[in-house]
Amino acid sequence: MKKIGVLTSGGDAPGMNAAIRAVVRTAIFNNLEVVGVRRGYDGLIDNDFIPMQSSSVSNILQRGGTILKTMRSQRFMTVEGRQKAYDNLINSGIDALVVIGGDGTFTGAAVFNKEHEFSIVGLPGTIDNDLIGTDFTIGYDTALNTVVEAVDKIRDTADSHNRLFIVEVMGKDAGYIALRSGIGAGAEAILYPESEVFIDHLMMKLEDGKRRQKQSSIIIVAEGSKEGGAAEVAKKVNERFDYDTRVVVLGHVQRGGSPSCMERVRASQMGNAAVEALLEGKKNVMIGIVDKKIAYTPFENAIKHTGKLNPDLLKLVDILSI
Ligand code: F6P
Repeated sequence: MKKIGVLTSGGDAPGMNAAIRAVVRTAIFNNLEVVGVRRGYDGLIDNDFIPMQSSSVSNILQRGGTILKTMRSQRFMTVEGRQKAYDNLINSGIDALVVIGGDGTFTGAAVFNKEHEFSIVGLPGTIDNDLIGTDFTIGYDTALNTVVEAVDKIRDTADSHNRLFIVEVMGKDAGYIALRSGIGAGAEAILYPESEVFIDHLMMKLEDGKRRQKQSSIIIVAEGSKEGGAAEVAKKVNERFDYDTRVVVLGHVQRGGSPSCMERVRASQMGNAAVEALLEGKKNVMIGIVDKKIAYTPFENAIKHTGKLNPDLLKLVDILSI
């Protein structure tokens, strides 16, 4: 193996640049050439490659986003697109690829591997934390901090006006952001896609709070909750009770910002491990960190959603929000 490529794909996440930096510098440390692929899988198809040196990744560790740009590639979902990508890799003398992204990225990599013999190792780059095979995905910790900082500010005004705030966080299919940010921000209740608990439980919680003279409340709703997003939940609440209610949708602010220290450390560890894995001949696996150790999970397994959140943490939300 003499030359590797690296790309970012899907929704961007803080820490992706730290991972890119670790991939590039580990490769160069091992006398490999490194090529950055711009704009995710579309860049593979368009031959949009940029040679990278150690200096190419200077001063990016602290930056959110991805210097290689990213996107969700429709063309890579076609046989012709994947064939073009393969031809470009071979014609450019690229021997292996590190792909940084979420479940869509690894789904694409798994299909590509069925059609072409090519070494790919993945890094879990998504704020959703919805991948099997790692305790934390790159971007999750920073997104949580962003949500908690925002909700702390919201709590000031909620308390001043005795209001109920319903805050929507990202997570179409997974409630990991809602769960831990709910605990960190002291939310009275959270609604999340995996939940079978619906609006009635929420109403009970709010009524309990009122009986305990709770003057204001914060509800955190994952955008994919079965009761709908924050606006729909607010409508259902207002149909039942006369709360002075406001809605906040945090949106893409959760995807930006300077990565936290732990984010940078984990992303650096995983980026380094990805190149080491390729050098050891490993392929078609996602790198993760499980119980503080590097883990290797086949792409097909990494993208399976477990569909359940940590029951102990869910119980904690109920206990601490009385
Ligand atoms: O997958 C990460 C994510 O931020 C999800 O949490 C969110 O639902 C989605 O991407 C938003 O996608 P887009 O960036 O295309 O609006």
